[in-house]
Amino acid sequence: MSSLMSSPTQTTAWKQLQKLSEEFKREDFCLSDLFHTADDRFELFTLAHENLLLDYSKNLLTEKGIGKLIKLAEDCGVPAAIEAMFNGERINHSEDRPALHVGLRDPECQNPAVSDTLGRMETFVDAIRRGEWTGYTGKRIVDVVNLGIGGSDLGPAMVTEALGDFANGELELHFVSNVDPVHLESTLAVLDPATTLFIIASKSFTTLETYQNANTAREWLLQRAQNNAAIGRHFIAITDNRAAAEEFGIDPANLYPVWDWVGGRYSLWSAIGMPVALAIGMANFRALLSGAHAMDRHFREADLQQNMPVIMALLSIYYRGFFDAHSTAIVPYSQRLNLLPPYLQQLSMESLGKRVDVMGKPVATHTGEVIWGTAGTNGQHSYFQLLHQGTNFVPVDFIAFARTTAVGKELAQRHLLANCFSQSLALMQGRDEPGAPHKHVPGNKPSNTLLISELNPYNLGSLIALYEHKVFVQSVIWDINAFDQWGVELGKLLSRDVFASLANDNSDHAFDDSTCGLIEFVKQWNQQ
Ligand code: F6P
Repeated sequence: MSSLMSSPTQTTAWKQLQKLSEEFKREDFCLSDLFHTADDRFELFTLAHENLLLDYSKNLLTEKGIGKLIKLAEDCGVPAAIEAMFNGERINHSEDRPALHVGLRDPECQNPAVSDTLGRMETFVDAIRRGEWTGYTGKRIVDVVNLGIGGSDLGPAMVTEALGDFANGELELHFVSNVDPVHLESTLAVLDPATTLFIIASKSFTTLETYQNANTAREWLLQRAQNNAAIGRHFIAITDNRAAAEEFGIDPANLYPVWDWVGGRYSLWSAIGMPVALAIGMANFRALLSGAHAMDRHFREADLQQNMPVIMALLSIYYRGFFDAHSTAIVPYSQRLNLLPPYLQQLSMESLGKRVDVMGKPVATHTGEVIWGTAGTNGQHSYFQLLHQGTNFVPVDFIAFARTTAVGKELAQRHLLANCFSQSLALMQGRDEPGAPHKHVPGNKPSNTLLISELNPYNLGSLIALYEHKVFVQSVIWDINAFDQWGVELGKLLSRDVFASLANDNSDHAFDDSTCGLIEFVKQWNQQ
């Protein structure tokens, strides 16, 4: 943010956009007409970068509006902020740290610790996949359980699912995140301790859910192995807290670092991505990194108007600021990307759910957006009714792949694409039904379409980095810190006292009536 502006709302561009947006709210406005008045609208409102095409032509603005949004980005210091991030400046102000996830995937000036860790990952991944690393009975590992939550789960789980076609099938990956005992128990029930590897993925190594699950998993293993040495064959840890991991019993040789300049929700490119590398192999993991690096270069080098993350960020800022859009639906027309919306939920909402700016002053405009969605076509049979005829204004990001990875299934892929394109068309043009208001579809609903050549590690890396940088640009314009998450601490703190009270100790915690009442019911219903 330029030093003159403490809020985007003070910029001239913001005030002009406020006024300009009104023309797109008028009863007589018709989004489809914008394609009739400018026959090159698609050409003007698409951006291509390698195998990704961003079609943002179905949005509620013209070139004039885009120009004002670009001016807003300039007035808010976006170019300088991009450089500050890539240069490792301490842009995570409240924790006084850089946010250098881009350094995890930059082959040129790689941090020696990063390249060393990638090398160690490669050695370990190859040993496991070749069967050279064996368990306490000498058998090869066939099941891997990742114990982690938030950024230590969502990214690895999403990428592993998305790239399932690149797995060689010799290893089964399991992701356990919840402290709900059923989550781990139902996973262990089908596993053999002799052939199972646990990954404790926790940057802090203090997250309750992961620590609880790690202890249960260790007990499960040792009950059968009857020898503490088995931990060295069946547990590795990815953490920034070596001391806690070694105290748990992790062999130092099985410790992989994730540094404090890597935010949890930005960490899948680090050793937190170990499950991905185990599933798809190190070469494919490096391709994922390369794809992300390609998007990093685009983000750093492209002019603002040609810059995919910048354009996507500005459109979300526009709808949040002037159309009261509380949420954005992410609808990947790819079943393998069904975990992308939950991943993007943390990336966006934990980064942008902030109420004070980087200087600690209350923000002057709404920030953040609720991110939700599922794979298409499923969403069409669930929540699309609200999108088409509801009273909520919900911009949609459609994501689709031109080619399927399912061999010989082009017909089905054509149906998938036809549905995707038809939904964004229907949202835009609607349908008049004079005399039958319940059938009327208003249209004029905006959407972006990200069309990608095919789902592979490189393209997925670019797609994820695109959204990381979109979130960053939104934070710069709103002048908030995208890289801390102080809001999650209170709940964790309170849970300690509630836990003590539930554990039947004669705690004298003075809870409110609701909390006391709920605790009482649990105790009663557990005595029945
Ligand atoms: O949700 C809070 C949070 O700190 C996330 O930012 C993080 O990804 C998650 O918990 C897990 O943290 P850790 O990797 O330290 O266990």
